Amino acid sequence: MSLIQDLNWRYATKNMSGEAVSSEKLQTILAATNLAATSYGLQPFTVFVVSNDEIKTKLQAAAYGQPQVGSSSAVLVFAVPLQITPADIEAFINLVATTRSIPVEALDGYKGMILGTVGALAAEQQQIWSAKQAYIALGTALAAAAEQKVDACPMEGFDAAQFDDILGLTAKGLKSVVIMPVGYRSADDATAQYIKVRKPESELFHHLK
Ligand SMILES: Cc1cc2nc3c(=O)[nH]c(=O)nc-3n(C[C@H](O)[C@H](O)[C@H](O)COP(=O)(O)O)c2cc1C
Repeated sequence: MSLIQDLNWRYATKNMSGEAVSSEKLQTILAATNLAATSYGLQPFTVFVVSNDEIKTKLQAAAYGQPQVGSSSAVLVFAVPLQITPADIEAFINLVATTRSIPVEALDGYKGMILGTVGALAAEQQQIWSAKQAYIALGTALAAAAEQKVDACPMEGFDAAQFDDILGLTAKGLKSVVIMPVGYRSADDATAQYIKVRKPESELFHHLK
């Protein structure tokens, strides 16, 4: 199937069947999430993959009872750091140096740039910046799920403070920003039949030739 067919097939699933997504398919979705583009390549987020039924039930309650949370196979919870520290930036630079087999000093300029921009932001601004990166990964994960014929729902409709509490995120220096349950659409999810609503392309795109 082409990407456009996959994206037409997918929809924000409102209720799932409870059927488990295979570990291979889930792993493919996670691999795509890891391959998402991020500014500087910093990947300032962590994804919690919650398949535990007890925790999913608690998360559903904290998501205003939305059924796709509890009936999913797993809930991906995208969390961002409360703060990006110089040590985080240092760790990233070391990863680049090790991965590419280059001396870490060769990356001094790059490190200085990250420290002077993202590193210099106030914690709250860093969280907003990190959330933007997490949303790009969310989009990539949604496309990957569609390609795997796995249903998903991007969701902001949850109480982040309650999620943080249930998952113990604050103690880990993290906060939840967006979630994505994955699974298989329930036969009684009427919204699966809804016609997709999108703006006409002529309204969305302005070609300057
Ligand atoms: C950031 C974000 C947050 C969303 N939050 C919710 C949500 O809490 N619950 C829900 O049922 N759908 C949620 N949606 C789904 C949108 O309503 C849906 O993507 C949109 O109506 C387009 O429909 P489609 O994805 O089925 O094509 C969210 C989508 C995005 C991108």
